[in-house]
Amino acid sequence: MTPAPPDLPTVEGAVEVLRRGGLVAFPTETVYGLGADASNEAAVARIFAVKGRPPHHPLIVHLPSAEALEAWARGDLAAAHRLAERFWPGPLTLVLRRQPWVSHRVTGGAETVALRVPAHPLALELLRRFGGGIAAPSANRFGSVSPTTAQHVRQSLGDAVDLILDGGPCPVGVESTILDLSGSTPAVLRPGGVPREELEAVLGHALLVPARPNVPSPGQHPRHYSPTATLLLVERESLPWEAIRLSRAGRRVGVLLPPGSPPLPGEVHAAVRLPADLAEYARQLYALLIHLDELGCQVILATLPPEEGLGAAIADRLRRAAAGEAPL
Ligand code: TXA
Ligand code: MG
Repeated sequence: MTPAPPDLPTVEGAVEVLRRGGLVAFPTETVYGLGADASNEAAVARIFAVKGRPPHHPLIVHLPSAEALEAWARGDLAAAHRLAERFWPGPLTLVLRRQPWVSHRVTGGAETVALRVPAHPLALELLRRFGGGIAAPSANRFGSVSPTTAQHVRQSLGDAVDLILDGGPCPVGVESTILDLSGSTPAVLRPGGVPREELEAVLGHALLVPARPNVPSPGQHPRHYSPTATLLLVERESLPWEAIRLSRAGRRVGVLLPPGSPPLPGEVHAAVRLPADLAEYARQLYALLIHLDELGCQVILATLPPEEGLGAAIADRLRRAAAGEAPL
């Protein structure tokens, strides 16, 4: 007789883990999150320990629905509700003034709190059954590429997580857009799954995209979302020559090849062709970077996509992944 397969983690099991202060990795529509009970300080502290994340960097609290907004945020929430109605569940995080009881462990000491209702059915079921807020950063070690499959989470965090819910690959693939509504002027702190243009259409005015936010944010660190290989941004015209030059200099070169570019010669270690559709590109971006790392690439060459729609989030992540890399 073949032995029975081990029980797959269930949402009920995940709720129990959260209730006793444990960590659950769960799928969202953007990337996998590393979740803890947002009202349990010790549980939230474990997130920072497991990720290796500096303690003053705030976490996003995931909520089961927009009805929970008032429990976590205060002040005039009219704009928040308007945006929530249009974009929640979905890849939009709203930064609002926090309720006084919300722990500084979650807010990183800030007077604001970041809130979102994720669109993935497993995440929503988890949140509904748990009933409270789940604090969750992306389920990767600090500074590295965010996971878009359960397998990525296992590779990155392994046994440090108490339970991993596997919901398949994340359909959006880049993190949520972070919109700060806590000040006098709304500002996009991080481009993401909801394009800025769509937010502007609902708000009826153009949005500020500050070069530097007021609150320290890991997603705002110059170097972030980085693969192990050195990521270099190059102009599209010089991509083939750079790939060949670096290969001849003895490097294992990986290339994110823009749609329509001619194929590269075989001396280039690995090339993956990018989809023309930006939503599809966003969906695949992190998995492709992880794949090129796994193929042993030492250098990854990429070009910036057009910065409209989801292209803004892709370009942002590529820039941050490449930040601080000197030309080779
Ligand atoms: O799509 C996402 O947002 C994913 C999934 C799991 O929901 N989460 C995510 O979390 O990307 P994380 O921790 O990797 O990035 C959260 C970002 C950070 O840049 C953090 O600084 C910012 O949200 N943030 C959190 N609270 C904030 C606050 N009160 N003010 C300003 N930024 C805040
Ligand atoms: Mg992250």
